[in-house]
Amino acid sequence: MDVRKGQDAADRASYADCEPVEFVWMHPPYWRMVRYNADSRCLSNAPSLDAFLDQMELVLRNCQSVLKPRGKIAVLIGGYSDRGRYQPLPHLLVARAIQVGLWPACTEIIRFQHGNTSSRKTYRSSFIPGLHDVCLVFERV
Ligand SMILES: C[S@@+](CC[C@H](N)C(=O)[O-])C[C@H]1O[C@@H](n2cnc3c(N)ncnc32)[C@H](O)[C@@H]1O
Repeated sequence: MDVRKGQDAADRASYADCEPVEFVWMHPPYWRMVRYNADSRCLSNAPSLDAFLDQMELVLRNCQSVLKPRGKIAVLIGGYSDRGRYQPLPHLLVARAIQVGLWPACTEIIRFQHGNTSSRKTYRSSFIPGLHDVCLVFERV
């Protein structure tokens, strides 16, 4: 599903024809780190961090509604620094997932990003660069 193809994962109606599934794989925008398009439904256009998390909560609820009893939902996401403030998106997402009745099924899976744009960049201030993102796997509580 992709909003660029007209499918909004936050809209319940997008799941109308979906059979129960064993596994959901999701690679959402890391809030506004990259703007994917001008569509107001796109998660990268959420006007605030809370609005992004609210929208992600809807996506998680919708995916949960089509999950088989022992099914899993995997989300690949990373934290990043936004206008000088670090946004710990994986941690915030775990908190929202727990609120909707999901629970981490295992430890976080770390994906190292070798040779990405930020590893070649030089920065004016000293900070710890983010060189990985995180795959979170959830199951029903
Ligand atoms: C990190 S990219 C992942 C792209 C994907 N891995 C691929 O290769 O096609 C995030 C994608 O989420 C899509 N997206 C953003 N908001 C969405 C929404 N509400 N419903 C469905 N897709 C959305 C964006 O258009 C973008 O293509």
